[in-house]
Amino acid sequence: MSNIIEIVNISKEFIIQKTPFEKPSRIKALNKISFSIESGSIFGLIGESGSGKSTLGKIVTNLMMPDKGEVRFHGQNLFDIEEKEMRKLRKDIQIVFQMAQNPLDPKRSVEELLSEPLNIHLKLQQSDIIIKINELLKQVGLDEVYKDKLPFQLSGGQRQRVIIARAIASNPKFLVLDEPVSALDVSMQGQIMNLLIDLKKEMSLTYLFITHDLYLARKFCTHIGVMKDGELVEIGKIDDVMNHPKNAYTQQLINSFK
Ligand SMILES: Nc1ncnc2c1ncn2[C@@H]1O[C@H](COP(=O)(O)OP(=O)(O)OP(=O)(O)O)[C@@H](O)[C@H]1O
Ligand SMILES: [Mg+2]
Repeated sequence: MSNIIEIVNISKEFIIQKTPFEKPSRIKALNKISFSIESGSIFGLIGESGSGKSTLGKIVTNLMMPDKGEVRFHGQNLFDIEEKEMRKLRKDIQIVFQMAQNPLDPKRSVEELLSEPLNIHLKLQQSDIIIKINELLKQVGLDEVYKDKLPFQLSGGQRQRVIIARAIASNPKFLVLDEPVSALDVSMQGQIMNLLIDLKKEMSLTYLFITHDLYLARKFCTHIGVMKDGELVEIGKIDDVMNHPKNAYTQQLINSFK
């Protein structure tokens, strides 16, 4: 299997200064992270709050620059390519945040929310945009009547379906899913995860699935990486890591889950 993404030696520090009189403090959010993701896999990234998972997700989708390191997509470093090439790649790499961090514009209808990525990424005529919106709604299991609804008129699960529809609008190849179901109740979590699995098959997608839920990681991921304090402490195939964790912190995580 070939790798779709290679993350090479990524480091990122934040400098925080609460008041102008205070000495700035440094947070090492990511420290020399390297790993690869195979095409067609679901790579789970787990670890406690503050371990650096979302920071890595943002860097991998080029929403944030690292201090050091490279992210290679099909061998091409995202931080060292021309704008024209980057525009092409932006279509291929998308991110789905959990709802709270990814609010939908409350004044825009579902149709308008879905038109936006289509206008940005695909140069379609108006009549084709309407066809594509209907197709997207169908793909994420929403009836066409929802086109005219505003976000507040949707349930949490329906809103997350719209967020996913926006992410797949550009026909991406790789999705970062940052806690995509953590704001939902358990039965809705199952439905949205099943939708993501169906879409993965249908669209030949590869996922980087960020979660703090070991149950979801075990159920859905093919590979897993464990983060602690900005370091990747363990990585491997899901069954190998779950059954024979090598790192003491991973062992502790898995034991607390059993
Ligand atoms: N924009 C920022 N400015 C300053 N510090 C930040 C910023 N983003 C993240 N951090 C810090 O970097 C560290 C890693 O944060 P990150 O959000 O990546 O963790 P996480 O693993 O996603 O946590 P969670 O599970 O709570 O979502 C934390 O200490 C956080 O406070
Ligand atoms: Mg996070």
